[in-house]
Amino acid sequence: MKTVKESLLERTSVRRYEREVIPRETMDFIYDAVRNTPTSYNGQQYSVIDISDQALKEELYALTNQKQLKTCNRLLIFCSDFNKMQLLAAKKGVDMPAITNTMDGVILGIIDASLAMMSAVVAAQACGLGSNCVGYLRTVDPAKVAELLHLPKGVFVVCGLALGIPREHPDLKPKQPKDLIFFQNRYREDSEAMTEELLDYDATVTEYNRTRSGSTTENDWCAHICDYYAHATAYRILDYLKAQGYEITH
Ligand SMILES: Cc1cc2nc3c(=O)[nH]c(=O)nc-3n(C[C@H](O)[C@H](O)[C@H](O)COP(=O)(O)O)c2cc1C
Repeated sequence: MKTVKESLLERTSVRRYEREVIPRETMDFIYDAVRNTPTSYNGQQYSVIDISDQALKEELYALTNQKQLKTCNRLLIFCSDFNKMQLLAAKKGVDMPAITNTMDGVILGIIDASLAMMSAVVAAQACGLGSNCVGYLRTVDPAKVAELLHLPKGVFVVCGLALGIPREHPDLKPKQPKDLIFFQNRYREDSEAMTEELLDYDATVTEYNRTRSGSTTENDWCAHICDYYAHATAYRILDYLKAQGYEITH
């Protein structure tokens, strides 16, 4: 097994996989790592749908056009989940407050599911697997995905995670320097200096995109990300949440 340092500092997203099956004991370790993730109040407001059915993977690929969904060996779908507590509370005659009607309820489930996914990413990496988070499973056609996965009310997809034996070893992507991420004791106020550092980072990413191994692009960081935001503003996630029983009022 890789060290924690290797697992965290050498991780890259892997989107091409060998056909081999992930060993049962590796999946067991990933399950255990996910189960031991810290969650808000230990409420464990998440579930994971583990997809090994090739036909279902192909259907999800058809919706998202993300090839890694059909070539990965396992696809874990991390969901925010208040259905389980609802079932238990109803059985015990406990009145369950309308947590799904609040933004904090939405955020709480997203945090729990996201941290659980990160546990899986690190555990998978430690075992030599490749992984790729797939947000398109949440965004492109949430109603269809909810139908395919039979999601009950109180449950929605936060993110998918494709897993497999790596068939590629992409270069590490340059990330923002420490001074742009870690601020000491308070938020930085030197926005002009910060902007200069952001410009430097933008140039670093542009150079990386131009020279990296595999497919290269002329993309800079800022235009590329803003282009993504432009697409993302069209997603109708609030409608999706409402359909899943989240009548958000505040
Ligand atoms: C929440 C989330 C959603 C993502 N969705 C996708 C996706 O739909 N398709 C994809 O190819 N990569 C996706 N990624 C992977 C990112 O593109 C990738 O993490 C980022 O470019 C940094 O590269 P690295 O993981 O190699 O460091 C996603 C990552 C996260 C955290």
